[in-house]
Amino acid sequence: MLSESGHAATPLSSRRSGPLKGRVRPPGDKSISHRAFIFGLMCRGVTEISGLLEGDDVMRTGEACRALGARVERIGEGEWRVAGLGVGALLAPPHTLDFGNAGTGSGGMMGVVGGHAVTATFDGDASLRKRPMRRILDPLALMGAQVLAEAEGGRCPIVLQGTSEPAPIVYRTPVASAQIKSAVLLAGLNAPGETTVIETEASRDHTEKMLAHFGAVVTVAPEGATGRRITLKGRPELRPRPVVVPADPSSAAFPMVAALVAPGSDVVIEGVMMNQLRTGLMATLLEMGARIEVLDRRREGGEDVADLRVRAGALQGVDVPAARAPAMIDENPVLAVAAAFAQGATRRRGLHELRVKESDRLAAVAAGLAAAGVAHAIEGDDLIVRGGAVRGGGLVETHLDHRIAMSFLVLGFASDNPMTVDDSRMIATSFPAFRGLMERLGAQFG
Ligand code: S3P
Repeated sequence: MLSESGHAATPLSSRRSGPLKGRVRPPGDKSISHRAFIFGLMCRGVTEISGLLEGDDVMRTGEACRALGARVERIGEGEWRVAGLGVGALLAPPHTLDFGNAGTGSGGMMGVVGGHAVTATFDGDASLRKRPMRRILDPLALMGAQVLAEAEGGRCPIVLQGTSEPAPIVYRTPVASAQIKSAVLLAGLNAPGETTVIETEASRDHTEKMLAHFGAVVTVAPEGATGRRITLKGRPELRPRPVVVPADPSSAAFPMVAALVAPGSDVVIEGVMMNQLRTGLMATLLEMGARIEVLDRRREGGEDVADLRVRAGALQGVDVPAARAPAMIDENPVLAVAAAFAQGATRRRGLHELRVKESDRLAAVAAGLAAAGVAHAIEGDDLIVRGGAVRGGGLVETHLDHRIAMSFLVLGFASDNPMTVDDSRMIATSFPAFRGLMERLGAQFG
């Protein structure tokens, strides 16, 4: 089988499993891992990172940091050291920055490059080349960066010429997007004044938290009922600080939903980040009647974390408000899987942003549900899934999207017939140990 990348794909099947039992720790958070490298580059001195996600996406960001002048070294498993140059002191990269599958890495680094007097070429795989980057480039152009070349519609490959004097701007993001917000704030690091980002709905806040952690002056104020106004004072002297990366709630979502739907399961997922802008899936599953217990809530690396005990049980369909979409933006495919096993219909509203992820996730989820024999409908930006017994037995097209692959493999752990995904290689972008971790719990592949 050939995948969209033109290379041989690696299909993978999963079959009815369980009960799933045991304790597992998901990999480090992808968002924080990207940012750990980027902040390491942006401060002078040595930043020590532990618990880093060693997935392909994050490694690409590490490579880009090297190309811009940082020394990036692996000390041990998840332990990294970055010797950075400091705000204003980046070097011109000697080659194209290839971000592979990673929207977050490329968007964040466009912000970094946009605010410095360097020119860089950004590129990636077939999935990244389809993603619209105009939303990132537009505010950077307002700050003075110039797009020298781009593929149709502001897509990669993109040649971006940054500026040594980025204009401090006040920017209202057109959609709730941490990637847009982060690009503007990272460019604003080198601006001679205050850069403000206003979002009508709050998106994940790791960039602003890490800016403060590294010593920048950042203020965060409420904006309307659900939004935020973030202001960064430019040209701070960032100081190296250790970064402890908590376990990724977006990766924890896969063993979590697997344990809910595979009968008799009882699983503990350790060290999961509980940042409220990331826990929309858990809130929704609890409303559906999921048996999830939050154990040993504690602080690690500046974030709330907890161990989660998850037991299988009946789920009910629910109506998920659009306002919750940003807090579970990456968990929508796997929520569709939980909804497939629930009694009644689950309606999720306001999913337009899913169309610009690693794949058009709304279309890919709908096609996967169709392959598995699950009744569903798309109405505008809403997805309705009618749950019940799940036939399974289909082939899912993943479109180079790791979360589509893992979601439908999870479905196969509880469906009547095995599920097959057309490619599993890209799971390594965010969760290289997915298969081994699920097998340790008793899940069956192949
Ligand atoms: C991310 C932000 C999210 C998310 C992505 C990671 C980040 O995108 O989908 O996987 O680390 O900033 P948007 O908030 O831009 O939609």
